[in-house]
Amino acid sequence: MVENSIHIRRAGVADASLLKSLSETTFFDTFTGTCTPEDMEGYLEEYYNLPQITRELQDPSDYYFLIYVGAQPAGYMRLKQDPSEVEIVKKHRAIELKRFYLDKAFIGTGVSKTLMNFALDFAAKQGYEMMWLGVWEYNHRAQKFYRKFGFQDTGASHPFPIGNTPQTDIWLYRFIRKEVPGQ
Ligand SMILES: CC(C)(COP(=O)(O)OP(=O)(O)OC[C@H]1O[C@@H](n2cnc3c(N)ncnc32)[C@H](O)[C@@H]1OP(=O)(O)O)[C@@H](O)C(=O)NCCC(=O)NCCS
Repeated sequence: MVENSIHIRRAGVADASLLKSLSETTFFDTFTGTCTPEDMEGYLEEYYNLPQITRELQDPSDYYFLIYVGAQPAGYMRLKQDPSEVEIVKKHRAIELKRFYLDKAFIGTGVSKTLMNFALDFAAKQGYEMMWLGVWEYNHRAQKFYRKFGFQDTGASHPFPIGNTPQTDIWLYRFIRKEVPGQ
């Protein structure tokens, strides 16, 4: 990978179809086999349909970013300030990292580090004190990645069913301005 060929930009309404396709593919690749095919299909239809994604992109407080390697979209993330029931999160000005997904061709290439550093920098510039996120309890790769960036357990979790398949996400958080060795 050529480091200087990486480019990140905020997505707008014109990117709705691209985001739909990238979101569907990356969600499918991540969670296929963890639920029934019907549950997967239903989830994609419910959350990754074009009108829904378009509405989210129209919301100025809903931040989608696309990362490119050269001309190729390599992944995306979504950041938004949403209410939380998690005690430590409630006490701070916190932004949720709602989605963070790479195309499978770019997993393990270092692209994720660039995107996460961008997310933390963006949140700092917006004046946030904390970033928080939910991750599936058995998504060990993602958890390892987040922990490398200093995210830690809140001790709280929540149900994140895919259709009729029950799943549990754990909530992680980190303070934005904390220095993490190697980051
Ligand atoms: C999560 C994601 C963005 C992280 O990016 P990445 O390029 O995989 O991150 P890295 O390779 O830097 O870090 C992953 C770490 O997990 C380790 N790892 C890989 N498979 C693992 C496993 N099954 N269990 C535990 N750790 C694992 C890797 O070795 C690496 O650790 P290391 O740097 O000490 O070697 C990327 O994997 C991804 O897009 N996954 C699919 C979507 C997803 O799960 N998103 C998160 C939703 S909450």
